[in-house]
Amino acid sequence: MEVAVLASGRGSNFQSIIDASSRGEIPNANIKLLIVNEKNAYAIERAKKHNIPHYLIESKNKKRSDFDLEMLEILHENRIDIIVLAGFMRILSTHFVNKYKNKIINIHPSLLPLFPGAHAHRETIKAGVSESGCTVHFVDDGVDTGPIIIQKSVPVNRNDTEETLANKILPLEHQIFPKALDLLTSRKLKINKGKVTIEAD
Ligand code: GRF
Repeated sequence: MEVAVLASGRGSNFQSIIDASSRGEIPNANIKLLIVNEKNAYAIERAKKHNIPHYLIESKNKKRSDFDLEMLEILHENRIDIIVLAGFMRILSTHFVNKYKNKIINIHPSLLPLFPGAHAHRETIKAGVSESGCTVHFVDDGVDTGPIIIQKSVPVNRNDTEETLANKILPLEHQIFPKALDLLTSRKLKINKGKVTIEAD
């Protein structure tokens, strides 16, 4: 399946997918292109290094619908089947999500449905919970609300800060995101009434 990755920044999750793919761990996925909405996104350097074509569509001062249409054009031209949101800090329009229904996945640094949105670590620390983690989920037209595919948890200690928590969770993101992409591109995920089941090998 042809896969497009959308990113806005550092791109370490993008890198984890590139690496897993080159180790042969996502055999049914071809990482075809990267789309970024920030010209300084380090994800661009990663794409260049691995000869993955990248497209910059600047989102500043652009209407969401226009931005999404530009992306759709690139995705259609490249016959993309699956979209991976790897630190993509922009909400997608309902129109866009419906065009790729059950074909977009996102990584989020909390145990959803707890702490959706852009400040998951901050809110986790503030709430004083003893556990957090990360979630890969399908994208629907809410914010971090779609059906959950895989989660992994870590303990939160009393002296954890946003930064230490992020550092603890990131390596787990790098494990579960490529895994979820493999399950999806191997057609092993089924969604029934908003719940995901994983088919055995
Ligand atoms: C990750 O923590 C991801 O869960 C969140 O944004 C961060 C992106 O990091 N959505 P990176 O750009 O993949 O390094």
